[in-house]
Amino acid sequence: MTAAGLEGVVVAETVLSEVDGEAGRLLVRGRPIEELAGSVPFEEMARLLWDGLAPAAPTTAAEARAALGRSRVAAFGNVAALREPASRLPAVAAVRLGLASLHPAGSEDHYLATAAIPVFVAAFERARQGLPPVAPDPSLGQAADFLRMLRGDPASRAEEAALDAYLVTVAEHGMNASTFTARVVASTRAGVLPAVIAALAALEGPLHGGAPGPVLDMLDELRGQPDLRSWLDAELAAGRRLMGFGHRIYRVRDPRADVLKAEVARLRAGSRSAGGRLALAEAVEAAALAALAAFRPGRRIDTNVEFYTAVLLDALRIDRRLFTTIFAAGRVAGWTAHVFEQERANRLIRPQSAYVGPRPALAAASA
Ligand code: COA
Repeated sequence: MTAAGLEGVVVAETVLSEVDGEAGRLLVRGRPIEELAGSVPFEEMARLLWDGLAPAAPTTAAEARAALGRSRVAAFGNVAALREPASRLPAVAAVRLGLASLHPAGSEDHYLATAAIPVFVAAFERARQGLPPVAPDPSLGQAADFLRMLRGDPASRAEEAALDAYLVTVAEHGMNASTFTARVVASTRAGVLPAVIAALAALEGPLHGGAPGPVLDMLDELRGQPDLRSWLDAELAAGRRLMGFGHRIYRVRDPRADVLKAEVARLRAGSRSAGGRLALAEAVEAAALAALAAFRPGRRIDTNVEFYTAVLLDALRIDRRLFTTIFAAGRVAGWTAHVFEQERANRLIRPQSAYVGPRPALAAASA
């Protein structure tokens, strides 16, 4: 018996998170995601994830923040040589190029990988726009410094808080495809940086981290449409998937969808720069849920994290081409924690396949 997509197969024990698909609950290090997002900075989330697993794990969020600041400065040293080729690549490929250029720093590799992603995203996007890079400010947190390096100006406190909450919300989520990839690579003893590069490649596809850009395309398409439902029904009838809906594990609404929706509302209240797509998104969400329920009556397909990711990152004026890389900027904390957890009790991950191809003709049959 093969388990297509490894569905239902438990491949690791972890202390990092529990995804309860029936209850719609996500616990990270024993704490509900609703409690963490918006109340702890990304640096504290990373510290929680690395705690007891990473070599020389930071003992405070301030220590993690200082180490990440130092590492952003180190990663920025690679920007000048890569800006030109990176500016001609899609955003995820450009970040992969940046990560591949980093020299392993031993026990600091988790800091380096985590710090480097926002540095490369910002610098390469500015290169694409013909703008000079903005050097990191190591005294800032990751969220604030990323927005500053991307825009060239400091963001508002409300924007920094919204991005921080986003990075925390997506930092860790069980044995998803990219995290599993990181653990497979870690199981070969390749180390942190190769595992992160491989995980980023797995994140790129539209069934995983590549969904929020297309969510925004869908919202654009539906703006001003008088009949949302007919458009969505036609998509489903044509065999297309509605991006931002459905999940392998959740059979109810993804709890992160509500966390991010609340962040969009908070951002709108606290910042004049926030975009105005929330009302449209809510209307599309309601119509899509009704369309999916009618299309698949036996299978509950509900809103996932990517739907409000798109609305939130758009409200932060981040171009949709960068969405997957911003997801990676949060998830890298989880990837690196899983790498350390795998390394601690390692056994090479090497499943089997059932051969169903041709076999050599038997000698007797050919005689
Ligand atoms: N739109 C339309 N149909 C969908 C759907 C969606 N968003 N999500 C699932 N379905 C359909 C599938 O096509 C499948 O039909 P099939 O059996 O004829 O192939 C059926 O519902 C059951 O799918 P399920 O087993 O629940 O999904 P999965 O575990 O294979 O896939 C996703 C999960 C996330 C890949 C899938 O829901 C999807 O493609 N969603 C859209 C992309 C997205 O938002 N990705 C981000 C995930 S966080």
